[in-house]
Amino acid sequence: MGAEIDRLLNRHTVRDFTEEKIPQELIDTALQIAVKTPTSFNSHPVRILDISQHKNAEWLSHQVSVQTAPHLFALTFSSQLAEKHIREKFSEKFGGDMNEEKMEKILDSSVRASGDHYAELQLYLVAGYFSASIEVQGGSGCWIRGFDRDIAKKELQLEGDETPGLLFAAGFEKK
Ligand SMILES: Cc1cc2nc3c(=O)[nH]c(=O)nc-3n(C[C@H](O)[C@H](O)[C@H](O)COP(=O)(O)O)c2cc1C
Repeated sequence: MGAEIDRLLNRHTVRDFTEEKIPQELIDTALQIAVKTPTSFNSHPVRILDISQHKNAEWLSHQVSVQTAPHLFALTFSSQLAEKHIREKFSEKFGGDMNEEKMEKILDSSVRASGDHYAELQLYLVAGYFSASIEVQGGSGCWIRGFDRDIAKKELQLEGDETPGLLFAAGFEKK
């Protein structure tokens, strides 16, 4: 088996990192792979932001991985963006046959049907591709859901309904 498969088989969460930064080309590759994540209706309602400049923020001070990681990424999702995209797709396909009532029914029975809006579910799929792509190239990381989304949204100055869903602290493992 190749080194890449070995890295995935040995993957584990890392909370103590060296100071060394992950080369930008490796991050770019991981971002390119994340963009290729399949999304329902091809709607791509997820963004990956480099928020490393927020590493020392008070709202993250309880997360040990953030303290030593040279990189910090935020994955955000927007339900409105996803629904806008779906509406456009359906209008293109069905034109005048697609009225507002029908559209609402479709959205209610599909993307809004589970507890979490599907835009957030998509985020978890993108997250898997993104972190695996970092890890397969020798990097390491820690996914973080333990933070206040309202505070983070404000601090990151996100607009509309764009919400930070997960953070990823990344770097190279300190052994
Ligand atoms: C969605 C998600 C959220 C997580 N949130 C946190 C977190 O807030 N803080 C933290 O230290 N680890 C967090 N983790 C890491 C888990 O604790 C870790 O993956 C789990 O203990 C299993 O360990 P492993 O990844 O080494 O297999 C999170 C992991 C996932 C997948």
